[in-house]
Amino acid sequence: MLIEWSAASLDLHLEFDLSHRRGRADRLAAAIREAIDNGRLPPGARMPSTRSMALELGVARGTVARAYEHLAVGGYLEASHGSGTRVASRRDRLEVEPVRDQPSGRLPAPRWNLRPGLPDVTLFPRAAWVAATQRVLREAPAEALDYGDPRGRLELRRALAAYLGRTRGVITHPDRIVVCHGFTQALGLLAKVIADLRTPTMTFEDPSYPLFREIVRTAGLDTLTAQVDEQGVRTQTIGRSSAVLITPIHQYPLGSALSAPRRRELVAWARECDAVIIEDDYDGEFQFHRKPIGALQAMDPSRVIYAGTTSKTLAPGLRLSWLALPANWVEPVTVAKRNADQHSAALSQMVLAQLITSGAYDRHIRRCRTQYRERRRQLAAALAAHVPQVELVGQSAGLHALVRWDPKGPSEREVLRAARRESLALSALGDYWSEPGPHRPGLVLGYATPPQHGYAGALAALTRTFGRVFEQG
Ligand SMILES: Cc1ncc(COP(=O)(O)O)c(C=O)c1O
Repeated sequence: MLIEWSAASLDLHLEFDLSHRRGRADRLAAAIREAIDNGRLPPGARMPSTRSMALELGVARGTVARAYEHLAVGGYLEASHGSGTRVASRRDRLEVEPVRDQPSGRLPAPRWNLRPGLPDVTLFPRAAWVAATQRVLREAPAEALDYGDPRGRLELRRALAAYLGRTRGVITHPDRIVVCHGFTQALGLLAKVIADLRTPTMTFEDPSYPLFREIVRTAGLDTLTAQVDEQGVRTQTIGRSSAVLITPIHQYPLGSALSAPRRRELVAWARECDAVIIEDDYDGEFQFHRKPIGALQAMDPSRVIYAGTTSKTLAPGLRLSWLALPANWVEPVTVAKRNADQHSAALSQMVLAQLITSGAYDRHIRRCRTQYRERRRQLAAALAAHVPQVELVGQSAGLHALVRWDPKGPSEREVLRAARRESLALSALGDYWSEPGPHRPGLVLGYATPPQHGYAGALAALTRTFGRVFEQG
């Protein structure tokens, strides 16, 4: 039987059988002990008085008192004059299991982090987010707190359709947008829909982000790979499949942009094979050259699914992303989204809509763009000055850069090992390939990851790391 009690200090659910009298105190003690062991009752939490708990549970006060006594002897509870009974601190417990917050032997977190995938989250526009949240809470209709359209809030879909058209050249309409929990969820939904097609296969660029391949395989699809060079994906290497997932603006992780001829070839391929192109525009807002490239989607909105996310512009913890879909994909993706989780959280969607329509989102992106451009410049300058053996490749864009060196030089593992001695976290290019090598060694460097005040230190640790491994070679 599930018992719930409330006291001035806490509410608690206990799983505990009241149906027969014998052993009630022991069973109550066991239920409370379990709540303490699994952290639901933390050290210092005030327990209800024996009287109020007995009343609440409909048991004799002596039963509760015996349970409390038993727990006090075991060091789980402590009674003190004037402040009632409280959960004891862990060290007072008999036979306590060691607390395993960290697996033993784990190294402390590295001091510097240049792994890719993260923006500088300290730049998150907290004041603008608070202002937008206040406005949304003041003005939101009651209906906003109810279940809503699986595609997401209309105000956000409207704001996105306008924003994506203005900044990325995407041709869409609010009705064709589905808001998701990050691109990670969006890809899972698309894979579900593709699983029902005649050829449930998806082609990935090689190299690419391994998690996405795993998500698609888990949905039951076969995955194929296509090669990538300095002009982006090599269209001739894309086999027959229902879909291809590409990062045309800034290939992840190699950093190349899909050239204009390849763009045309890719769209022609999709038409010929009756396939769909999924355009992962994960960092399209951060192009540092004069003439940013627009979304591929505009070349054929009936064949290209455009995907965007706030994970690089704001923070990955928000889990807010969007798909701009061809007309015939709206219904199946909406059904998949509804079946997954009804819809994404309404209030944060409304806050983002407010941020976009007020102009605060654009301002924030401009500010981040300036910082990331400067960081990339500093990275290039530091490598050119101190490590002539490595080459920075790829577009001047996004939040990461690829560094490669001659295969006769150190291995990626040797570089990672040297970095650990500098307390620097790095990511090897080798982890992104699906086809076995040999591949030229490299590192995928996330220059947006450290906070601004830690960037110079991280760069110095990087050049020391390279200095160490190339000196030895
Ligand atoms: C290539 C690529 N696309 C998209 C994303 C964004 O995923 P999400 O929106 O689920 O955070 C990431 C995040 O690391 C990524 O590496």
